[in-house]
Amino acid sequence: MNVSDALRGRFIVLGVTGSIAAYKSIELARRLTQAGATVQVVMSRSATEFVRPITFQALTYRPVEVEMFQIQDERAAGHVAMGREAEVIVVAPATAHVISRLANGMADDLIATTVLATSAPVVIAPAMETHMWQNPATQENIARLRARGVRVVDPESGPLASGDVGPGRLASLEKIEAAVVDALSSSAALAGRRVIVTAGPTVEAIDPVRFVSNRSSGKMGYAIAQAARDAGAEVTLVTGPTALRAPNGVRVIPVESAEDMQDAVLAVLPEMDAVVMAAAIADYRPLEVSHRKIKKRDAGSELTIRMTENPDVLKAIIAARRPKTIVVGFKAESGEATAEAERMLREKKVDLVIANDISDPSSVFGSDTDRVTFVSADGVEALPVLAKTEVARRLVAKLAERLAR
Ligand SMILES: Cc1cc2nc3c(=O)[nH]c(=O)nc-3n(C[C@H](O)[C@H](O)[C@H](O)COP(=O)(O)O)c2cc1C
Repeated sequence: MNVSDALRGRFIVLGVTGSIAAYKSIELARRLTQAGATVQVVMSRSATEFVRPITFQALTYRPVEVEMFQIQDERAAGHVAMGREAEVIVVAPATAHVISRLANGMADDLIATTVLATSAPVVIAPAMETHMWQNPATQENIARLRARGVRVVDPESGPLASGDVGPGRLASLEKIEAAVVDALSSSAALAGRRVIVTAGPTVEAIDPVRFVSNRSSGKMGYAIAQAARDAGAEVTLVTGPTALRAPNGVRVIPVESAEDMQDAVLAVLPEMDAVVMAAAIADYRPLEVSHRKIKKRDAGSELTIRMTENPDVLKAIIAARRPKTIVVGFKAESGEATAEAERMLREKKVDLVIANDISDPSSVFGSDTDRVTFVSADGVEALPVLAKTEVARRLVAKLAERLAR
């Protein structure tokens, strides 16, 4: 779909805040309007110090709103009407100040109130001086917003108004526009669908204090859960222990062992439209679990732990699923991951396999990026190095497309 097809007739609220980059959003407003969208501009008071409302008004053919208590929208509760009617809200540029207020759920001006009152997707494009951007306060606020499903168009590196060179410059208008289009097109792609995502490692007990586990961080699975939720799905996240905060609005079932994970997934499987198996499930577990802490004194200088095979959770799911339930598997291998994924596709009757070569430095456990290959009956699609959040979005788009077939 081209940009005009995606934007024509859509109602977009454009929030403009007090950054030197505010002049760039004049061009953004013009582009969105020219593509056929109705663009309602809302400016913070600070933003009006940088650019005048009349400029936006002339380009969008609509009055610009600034003051909550003098709103020009004559409907009752005009202060929340824009948030309710918006199909997407984009705050560009977003200052450190507005990011902080949004992260805290404040409603002290019209932009913050509109965002708080919306159920539409929210896109923010931060712009600020490098130190402000890198400050832990800003980064924590950004992380909180992301966890709630706010789409962040990361600022770019380059010369800044302050004279510094570094990250903080407003992303290109093409990128912001693409994020708006993506938010509009994916926000209902999985509406009414139930999706289960497994994530993280499993933990196999040796005794009450020791265990065998793996280095899975859970980041991929959590990103998929969040992307599926953003696409309108009802999401259940079955997760081994991780250091991550689960996305809001997702049902979380914490588990420890591979057997726990299998039980949890099978219990809810009949209701599911799709199962995404992103967890790193241990292949083996200690054959015997000591109910008391194994004493060094008793074990001596060598300790042998015999391991036994865990159930093949994926196989159990394939056997138990309804024919329409789509199953996505992951194959992490040190080399030849794609060939292994193709084998998994054939032998296990999985619908889609995400192959991940963990010997590739951009795909190591715990990193925020990944280079994966989608393997399905449609063919093999190798993706470039991407943020895990972006891999998750593309996976969700694939899932939506398959479910719609
Ligand atoms: C010349 C000038 C440029 C500024 N540029 C930025 C900026 O790029 N990003 C930012 O976060 N704040 C910037 N500020 C500070 C904000 O304007 C200030 O924090 C303000 O309270 C933001 O309010 P708002 O978020 O409601 O628009 C700038 C201030 C001045 C005076």
